[in-house]
Amino acid sequence: MFISIEGGDGAGKTTQARLLADNLKSLGSDVVLVHEPGGTELGEMLRSWLKETGKEISPQAELLAFGAARAELVENIIKPALAKGTIVVADRYSDSTTAYQGYGHELPLDVIERVNSIATQGIYPDLTFILDLDSAQAYNRGIARDNESNERRFEDMHESFHSRVFRGFREIAANEPIRCTIIDSSKPIDLIEKEVLDYLAYAGYI
Ligand code: TYD
Repeated sequence: MFISIEGGDGAGKTTQARLLADNLKSLGSDVVLVHEPGGTELGEMLRSWLKETGKEISPQAELLAFGAARAELVENIIKPALAKGTIVVADRYSDSTTAYQGYGHELPLDVIERVNSIATQGIYPDLTFILDLDSAQAYNRGIARDNESNERRFEDMHESFHSRVFRGFREIAANEPIRCTIIDSSKPIDLIEKEVLDYLAYAGYI
């Protein structure tokens, strides 16, 4: 089973991905939690470069950098884990590229799809939870987090970028309603955690 948790910045997906992985482990499953970009040597290098240098790169370079990080993660971690029957929980995956580089930076969606298919080797999640938040609320959470962590990711991006990203995730969910479930992430953390588990139980996964 392969589950991804997606959403715009500030939607709380890292918290939910951790909770889900812990809950599945306490139900007795083997679980690997991955966080994109990252998880391999190249992925971590690209992560710190993309997140910490604060340097502007072109959307095309960004697309290929996230693609390279994902290609390594799929080949070295995700594919072997799934082959062993381990559950993979991914904190972001290919939908992030569609939403950020496709909808956010407005690169052509067919190009995004081709890069995603190379990077993933056609391995896509069985289920995806998309944490959705009003983009203005997410923007405010993001600014607050930037201030805490001394990052400047939000300040540097206009709110319109983030609202395109959130719209992108909603469109992805509308196009693939069987794989994707939208969750209102303005709810308290424990309610979202329960909603995810209830959905997995209802769908017969746990
Ligand atoms: P993330 O690590 O989720 O941020 P954090 O854990 O600090 O909340 O994501 C890093 C940033 O990279 C985030 O702004 C989204 C962006 N991103 C893309 O633009 N495209 C992608 O394919 C991925 C995986 C992330």
